[in-house]
Amino acid sequence: MESTRSRLAQRLAEAGQSHLVQFWDELTPEQQAEMTSDLEAMDFQEINKFFRSAMEVSHSSKQEKMDARMEPVPREVLGSVTRDRDCIKDWEEKGLRCISQSRVAVLLLAGGQGTRLGVSYPKGMYDVGLPSHKTLFQIQAERILRLQQLAEQRHGAKCCIPWYIMTSGRTMESTKKFFSRHSYFGLCKDNVIFFQQGMLPAMDYNGKIILESKNKLAMAPDGNGGLYRALGTQGIVEDMDRRGVKFIHVYCVDNILVKVADPAFVGFCVQKGGDCGAKVVEKTNPTEAVGVVCKVDGRYQVVEYSEITLATAEKRSADGRLMFNAGNVANHFFTLAFLRDIVQTFEPQLQHHVAQKKISYVDTQGRLIKPDKPNGIKMEKFVFDIFQFAKAFVVYEVLREDEFSALKNADSQDGKDTPTTVKHALMSLHHRWVLNAAGHFIDENGTRVPAIPSLKDGTDLPIKCEISPLVSYGGEGLEELVSGREFRPTLVIDKSGAHELVKNGL
Ligand code: UD1
Repeated sequence: MESTRSRLAQRLAEAGQSHLVQFWDELTPEQQAEMTSDLEAMDFQEINKFFRSAMEVSHSSKQEKMDARMEPVPREVLGSVTRDRDCIKDWEEKGLRCISQSRVAVLLLAGGQGTRLGVSYPKGMYDVGLPSHKTLFQIQAERILRLQQLAEQRHGAKCCIPWYIMTSGRTMESTKKFFSRHSYFGLCKDNVIFFQQGMLPAMDYNGKIILESKNKLAMAPDGNGGLYRALGTQGIVEDMDRRGVKFIHVYCVDNILVKVADPAFVGFCVQKGGDCGAKVVEKTNPTEAVGVVCKVDGRYQVVEYSEITLATAEKRSADGRLMFNAGNVANHFFTLAFLRDIVQTFEPQLQHHVAQKKISYVDTQGRLIKPDKPNGIKMEKFVFDIFQFAKAFVVYEVLREDEFSALKNADSQDGKDTPTTVKHALMSLHHRWVLNAAGHFIDENGTRVPAIPSLKDGTDLPIKCEISPLVSYGGEGLEELVSGREFRPTLVIDKSGAHELVKNGL
């Protein structure tokens, strides 16, 4: 025991982190044991190296000069649901064939802490208040189930879309319990694979690890780019290989409209021979908080909203659109071969990004201090930082109203990306699906509601309508349920048919 302690003390001294045990003598034996095991598991030399190189990059004038080095995505690598309408059917068909051969997996990034939303549980467990009260996890699970069914119907063979879910130390247990409690939402348990990303300590500006209490380091997940290290350490690449997976759709938990394993996106990337692809929506507002896909020094990259200058964000092309308008919706396509190269070769080259944060800490007297301005950094890798290694990078542009509405913030007046805005986005999409399938809505007086309803009392409330993903993945298969019929909202369409809810509980 004594020798373990002195070995640890020496390692800490060598790494300049001896302050971490400054309260040692005040800790209970249990706390000491726990802290010893936390500290023993850490590679301080590596952490110090990450700190030095992350700070170097963030201090260099690189960011200033970024603007001059940025170029928009060239048309030849771009596919668009609006400009390439003739090809969509082919792409969809190709993607669905890959799915039917069980060659497509989906991978969910769910290790974030949902700080902005302000909930203490994983974001995927959030109920945004739909009539069904389905959570984000359930909506995604049901889309997977429906897509498997569509692929099976089309190609007559049983297939499976494995669902890999990356959690962090903070979200793993609750996520797993939630899935188990809900019987994996009807999916086969063996095809839902949880794995855990790494954590890194928060550091002050001098590279000292921050203590959040006398016996605990301030730890945070290492960013969604922590994916690549985790894919290696947790044997996920091998698991994919064993299952015969060839293509992976990676996405974020917060987009309520996400088309998991989107056949058109997968088919487009495969058809183009892409090893790495990104789905984008047109960015129309220069200050919108989305990263933009572009080239920097001739290599593909996402320039994050926190890294672009306003002047560049506002630049316009001759057609009047924003020059950097390929808004990243955090939906990526990778071949397994590409991911393997990343894990085996390139991962160590990925730089951590630095986020300055207000981090609660204990001072030398052991008092808890909650700073009111940033006092340290968190280091994060980003999922898209591997675009630079692609041999054939492709970009797929989709319509925002059909595919992108992200839950980021708690409800507030005029709030953006809130439970209310995402709920409305989903209901508005489903409203359009019903109209496209020749269904109609009527108001409380039995009068047909025009397709584009006028705004009543200045409010912009969508028609209340929710369609179960088990019935329709992307608007298909609704004619027999709604064609020629009139519905009074709230309309709910599920496996048992189309129902008007008597109580409008929304
Ligand atoms: C992200 C994108 C941004 C894009 C926007 C669209 C990144 C780095 N940025 O920004 O370019 O325009 O979405 O909505 O991808 N996560 C982890 N582990 C972590 C941190 C995050 O798994 O350590 C997951 C979260 O659970 C979430 C996703 O990554 O599913 C996105 O994280 P978030 O921090 O919300 O990214 P944004 O800043 O919104």
